[in-house]
Amino acid sequence: MILALLMLLVAAWGKNMEVEAGGGKWELLIGNIGISAMHMQLLNNDKVIIYDRTSFGLSNITLPDGKCRNNIKNESITHDCTAHSVEYDVVSNKIRALMVQTDTWCSSGSVYPDGSLSVTGGDGVGEDVVRIMGTCGGCDWREIEHGLSTRRWYSSNLFLPQGRQIVIGGRQRPSFEFYPKAKGEIGAYDFPFLRQTSDKHDENNLYPFVFLNVDGNLFIFANNRSILFDYKTRKVVRTYPDVPGGDPRNYPSTGSAVLLPLKNLEAGVVEAQVLVCGGAPRGSFDKSNAKRGKEFIRALDTCARISINDPNPQWALETMPMARVMNDMIMLPNGHVLLINGASNGTAGWENGREPVLHPVIYNPDSQRGQRFEVQNPTQIPRMYHSTAGLLRDGRVIVGGSNPHFKYVFDKVYYPTELSVEAFSPPYLEPEFARLRPVVVQPFSHSQFSYKQKTKIGFTVPGRVNLDLIKVTMLFPPFNTHSFSMNQRLMVLDKENVGIVGRGKYEVNVTTPGSPNLAPPGYYMLFVVHQNIPSEGVWMKIQ
Ligand SMILES: *[C@@H]1O[C@H](CO)[C@@H](O)[C@H](O)[C@H]1NC(C)=O
Ligand SMILES: *[C@@H]1O[C@H](CO)[C@@H](O)[C@H](O)[C@H]1NC(C)=O
Ligand SMILES: *[C@@H]1O[C@H](CO)[C@@H](O)[C@H](O)[C@H]1NC(C)=O
Ligand SMILES: *[C@@H]1O[C@H](CO)[C@@H](O)[C@H](O)[C@H]1NC(C)=O
Ligand SMILES: *[C@@H]1O[C@H](CO)[C@@H](O)[C@H](O)[C@H]1NC(C)=O
Repeated sequence: MILALLMLLVAAWGKNMEVEAGGGKWELLIGNIGISAMHMQLLNNDKVIIYDRTSFGLSNITLPDGKCRNNIKNESITHDCTAHSVEYDVVSNKIRALMVQTDTWCSSGSVYPDGSLSVTGGDGVGEDVVRIMGTCGGCDWREIEHGLSTRRWYSSNLFLPQGRQIVIGGRQRPSFEFYPKAKGEIGAYDFPFLRQTSDKHDENNLYPFVFLNVDGNLFIFANNRSILFDYKTRKVVRTYPDVPGGDPRNYPSTGSAVLLPLKNLEAGVVEAQVLVCGGAPRGSFDKSNAKRGKEFIRALDTCARISINDPNPQWALETMPMARVMNDMIMLPNGHVLLINGASNGTAGWENGREPVLHPVIYNPDSQRGQRFEVQNPTQIPRMYHSTAGLLRDGRVIVGGSNPHFKYVFDKVYYPTELSVEAFSPPYLEPEFARLRPVVVQPFSHSQFSYKQKTKIGFTVPGRVNLDLIKVTMLFPPFNTHSFSMNQRLMVLDKENVGIVGRGKYEVNVTTPGSPNLAPPGYYMLFVVHQNIPSEGVWMKIQ
């Protein structure tokens, strides 16, 4: 009897101490930003660059200073004084309209080490355009005509260790290219893998999932298959098994994927694991897209995880708490993965999704199998096709968009065009954890580091500290669209002992990643994490 009571007490106490105990909080940031957030990128000035497409028609926000686009080519209108891109300022919670000239629809991008965003491709006259957005106060888009060698629509980008991006695939483009190009480099290189993974006319292999492996090769996933690819010699160096079950995970059977946190960075072979979640059974797109007798069948409820540098890599399946398609996967500062947005029936594409999933789910990769998922509190707003999400430096996740219609449609449809942006605060931001939360005091914002540099991280914690449960993480801010966060990459830095340097003041010496293959050059957010509670991030640059 007493033992049972004691056990109950321990269980209750354990629950209280459980950091990801399910919860989280939603807040509406702005009810109407004027456009539907289809693409999103956080810059190192804490501004989020957001854009949809110029060919949706007139948006709900006008351009400043009487600016207009006139004699627009290949769009249904010829005169447009509305904006199709905005900058969201996290600090002031305000929007600034930006001018984009060419159609950005279903484009892709990366941030460069100078902090600017480089967006490639799109549709119509924008199909081969490169667009640059800098971090200066009043910056606007600068567009480079024919910056690409060919049309890139639904491609995936990755920022490479050599300091430029690779642009992979796109509709009817089983090829890849680099931006910018080296002197004398040809336009596009053939990429048979995308031909091999194409169902019908490029179904189920668009917006492929691309990650930089720790050996410098690319892990590329499309449909139900994946390879390790040496982009320098253009050779497939490894072919992984198909995902068990064989169902597709890429557009329009859109699931998502992350490279799980990289740690023990000074080990001989750094372990790299990829997690792919959600998608839709083969045939779903045709069923939901049928002219007659449409059917919106249940999405996949599985994730598949693989250790890509294992001698004998195998996928392990896990079951999510609910089926999900068009889900985003956002890396949180503590290395947990947030699954957010999407639907439980149908696929991506116009009008093809049903039954929005309003509950985010947090996946803890370090928990026991079977105990990794934690369902969070729901939003009220469906975020279907063309919705986005991204981590902010303060640990919140900004969520926007959703427009499964060919134009802006605000009523008499299942899922009206959504112009709002919300923020989801994971449970680690709840006030009960305030005393555990570190504050970084060193390095200062925008400090620069070299590779394999030993550096001191100073921080304070208001409450009692468990020195063993301190870690320092570094996260590359990803480009998000169509449920995939390109360039998303989190590293847990190798550390020495944590030292107490004063009342509530601590320091830990860490070593920055050893090479650009581990951490491509550029700005990262650095976090000190204590018992899974992250500090606010500090921008740092590695080069
Ligand atoms: C957007 O603008 C259209 C046309 O002006 C208007 O009908 C609609 O109500 C606006 N929608 C929102 C959500 O403000
Ligand atoms: C734009 O429209 C013109 C005239 O209809 C057509 O010739 C051209 O191919 C189109 N260009 C693109 C990029 O769609
Ligand atoms: C993977 O998809 C292809 C079609 O693209 C299919 O032929 C193959 O059987 C699938 N793999 C498995 C294991 O089902
Ligand atoms: C979603 O899928 C389930 C299971 O297949 C089905 O029972 C349900 O009717 C579907 N919902 C819609 C809206 O089609
Ligand atoms: C961190 O490194 C510095 C320089 O080597 C050293 O003085 C300091 O004691 C180290 N701090 C801890 C906590 O080990």
